[in-house]
Amino acid sequence: MKHFLSTKDLTTEEMLTMLELAESYRTNHLKLDQQLFAANLFYEPSTRTKMSFLVAQKKLGIETLGFQVEDSSVTKGESLYDTAKTFESIGASLLVIRHQDDNWYKGIIDNLSVPVINAGAGKGEHPTQSMLDLLTIYQEYGHFNGLNIAIVGDIKHSRVAHSNAHALQTLGANVYFTAAPGFEDRTLDFPYISIDEAVEMCDTLMLLRIQHERHNDEQYDATSYHEAYGLTVEREKKMQDHAIILHPAPVNRGVEIASELVECNRSRIFKQMNNGVCVRMAIITTLLKEWGMHNENSTYKCS
Ligand code: CP
Repeated sequence: MKHFLSTKDLTTEEMLTMLELAESYRTNHLKLDQQLFAANLFYEPSTRTKMSFLVAQKKLGIETLGFQVEDSSVTKGESLYDTAKTFESIGASLLVIRHQDDNWYKGIIDNLSVPVINAGAGKGEHPTQSMLDLLTIYQEYGHFNGLNIAIVGDIKHSRVAHSNAHALQTLGANVYFTAAPGFEDRTLDFPYISIDEAVEMCDTLMLLRIQHERHNDEQYDATSYHEAYGLTVEREKKMQDHAIILHPAPVNRGVEIASELVECNRSRIFKQMNNGVCVRMAIITTLLKEWGMHNENSTYKCS
């Protein structure tokens, strides 16, 4: 694995190995003993992904090169490719990129000699979010085989849905979609069920935000949407005792999920964020190892 771009590139074994590595980093803190620089090139806003990459890099002893689109030469028209080549030229050993283009990495990675991590590609894929979602489910159940998992919300415009549907299916889960009219993605071959069916039959409900920034949705009434398609307090009571709630966040409280359920006993939403750090550490070290920039002997454990 030279780059981390899509869950479609990962085998079951690679995903499970990554999850075990991430889990080990929760207790075994590692630092690399060489100086490496990472460039986090975020062309779209981010709180969780960007900050958890920063924490992951800091824990590994990797220096981060500050970059803000608005005060960079992107404002003079510099392309993503030239920006990436610039960071490679000045010594970045790792590029973490979020960009509004669904396929930004195509045509870029072939001419780079450093690993690239997809931190979000338009409405295409968000594979590092998927890995932390997988870790959260794995911690709960210890396996994926036969789990019923519903991905609920704006499927059509969600890169999280696209990465997770494929990854969960590869790992043996039964994946269902639940979406309001217009939010379906019929290019993907997964069965659709209603929100009421989903709450009663699923082991995990993965809720999604309406991605306003990716479509010109007609103004909808938040209360009506919540009642018809959201996880209401009444619906939550019909979930199986063991079932859990995931959401990649940011959350629209009162729209896809009732505000009082965001931190309820079933919710793993903040655990997902916590898992984001060790998952991203695992992704980074796996790639650096592949590129010969890291081996177990060149790290030291710290308390
Ligand atoms: N889940 C997620 O990608 O959040 P951010 O947009 O804040 O990074």
